[in-house]
Amino acid sequence: MDTATFPRPGPAARDVAARQTDAVVTTHALTKTFGRGAAARTAVDRLDLVIPRGVVYGFLGPNGSGKSTTMKLLLGLLTPTSGSVRLFGSPLDRRHRGALMARIGSMIEQPPGYGHLTGAENMRLVQRMLGLQQAQVERALELVRLTEHRDRLVRTYSMGMKQRLGIAMALAREPELLILDEPTNGLDPAGIEEIRNLLMSLAGEGVTVLVSSHLLDEIDRMAGVLGILSAGRLVFQARAPS
Ligand SMILES: Nc1ncnc2c1ncn2[C@@H]1O[C@H](COP(=O)(O)OP(=O)(O)O)[C@@H](O)[C@H]1O
Ligand SMILES: [Mg+2]
Repeated sequence: MDTATFPRPGPAARDVAARQTDAVVTTHALTKTFGRGAAARTAVDRLDLVIPRGVVYGFLGPNGSGKSTTMKLLLGLLTPTSGSVRLFGSPLDRRHRGALMARIGSMIEQPPGYGHLTGAENMRLVQRMLGLQQAQVERALELVRLTEHRDRLVRTYSMGMKQRLGIAMALAREPELLILDEPTNGLDPAGIEEIRNLLMSLAGEGVTVLVSSHLLDEIDRMAGVLGILSAGRLVFQARAPS
């Protein structure tokens, strides 16, 4: 895997560790094993993640390396086999989960829009479900540049537009932390560039963005910190040179 544009662990990794106190996400020995006995398979293996506030954290790893499983653990959609997650300084447990999730927007695996509804109708569902203002929904559509396509059925959208609608659905609540699972998957270079610019500008406003990819060149230019996952292990975590 080409990591040439990033410094080796060492001073930079210690710099990341020094920011733990200001971290939005920290995990301690986070582990998830699926199945039992001979069929047991460890998808996430003793992960110690540190995601500082206001960065784009690029979560890179080949297919099957555990990216989606990690994100589901961070969202409380899966229960860890062992280890722990802290979000905004609080433990992710039953007592805190609801309040923590209100501060997080996410898109995991597939963009979530209903094909038989328009973009605007999908956004209205999110608005009602989360009790949002109309202005929040409008702003989210504007940010992903879907305003002019809002009245089209989502099944007629391109892959890039579906991804952008998914991001708008995640953004509408104005989250402090945005977790996006392979949002550049299936996009052409122009679509990737657009998402890169959007995520970098959100980070510039102080939103923390965790974004996964299995392709280095899709995220290396947007990531302020890069973490590389291999077979469930974090093999590299460092701040990108500015
Ligand atoms: N619900 C599940 N049950 C059993 N195995 C799973 C489940 N989800 C993921 N896995 C396995 O865990 C590993 C990591 O998967 P995943 O987190 O989806 O990786 P990535 O998102 O990096 O492609 C893979 O071997 C996958 O087959
Ligand atoms: Mg995945």
